Amino acid sequence: MIIGGSASQALAAEIARELNDKLCSVETKKFPDGERYFRIKDEIPKDESVIIVQSTGYPQDENLMEIFFILDILNDMDIEDITLVSPYLGYSRQERRFKEVECISAKATAKLIQTMGVKRVISINLHEESICQLYDIPVDNLSAMPTIAEYILNNFNDTKPVILAPDKGAENFAKEIAEILETDYDYLEKVRLSPEKVETKTKSISVKNRNVVIIDDIISTGGTIVNAIEILKDQGAITVDVFCVHPVLVNDAILKINAAGANSVQGTNTLKSEVANVSVATLIADYIKNI
Ligand code: R5P
Repeated sequence: MIIGGSASQALAAEIARELNDKLCSVETKKFPDGERYFRIKDEIPKDESVIIVQSTGYPQDENLMEIFFILDILNDMDIEDITLVSPYLGYSRQERRFKEVECISAKATAKLIQTMGVKRVISINLHEESICQLYDIPVDNLSAMPTIAEYILNNFNDTKPVILAPDKGAENFAKEIAEILETDYDYLEKVRLSPEKVETKTKSISVKNRNVVIIDDIISTGGTIVNAIEILKDQGAITVDVFCVHPVLVNDAILKINAAGANSVQGTNTLKSEVANVSVATLIADYIKNI
């Protein structure tokens, strides 16, 4: 039985179709004061395995609260086999203490999720792999890179563009895609030319007269990508297409990226977004089939 939270109902329906499982019928609403309501309309037998699908992007707290409501209903029904599929797990960027006595929000979230009865969490490209260690239950961190590579193969004329990470932290994403497409990859590196002058450029290969695909896990304000596009254009790239796993896209991020000269901007449907053209439903369903 699959239960879709209101942040991920379309994805939940897709996963249910792929798994040939029943999608639970639910009622969700928001009261005039902003409080959330959740009702499960189907009977669920006690021994049923239940998969909740709910990302916790904006509004993070409401989406998390909805997970807790669903878990509370399942606890009342004495259902024990509960998996949480949260393709985008909010609060993942505060996974350690940067200043003294601040809340490690990813840890607080983990504590609540597992205390309320989740037996396994499945997510996609967690911001840091170390988040898995914040849980005492299994956490599977899947990679959307093969899905993005397949999308490029099926939709791009040039299936051997340079795959470029906007910084060293994203290099592994670029490598994973490039290995599938059998093409080159690189990342942008800051080089200090003098005490006053810093230049950002590709680490080892030239993008002159090449089509380039930028890959990052998250696009939030778009600042990182805008900077990368400007550098790649300066260095003679023909086209720059942009992919991310999680299209957080705060305010006018897409506008800024388009204005910087992107040929296209796409993301996966871990979050609802106008650019969520790459579906992770098969990735998740295939993984679940093999657990
Ligand atoms: C950083 O660690 C992430 O991989 C992204 O590069 C970052 O979150 C992007 O943020 P923004 O779009 O605000 O530049």
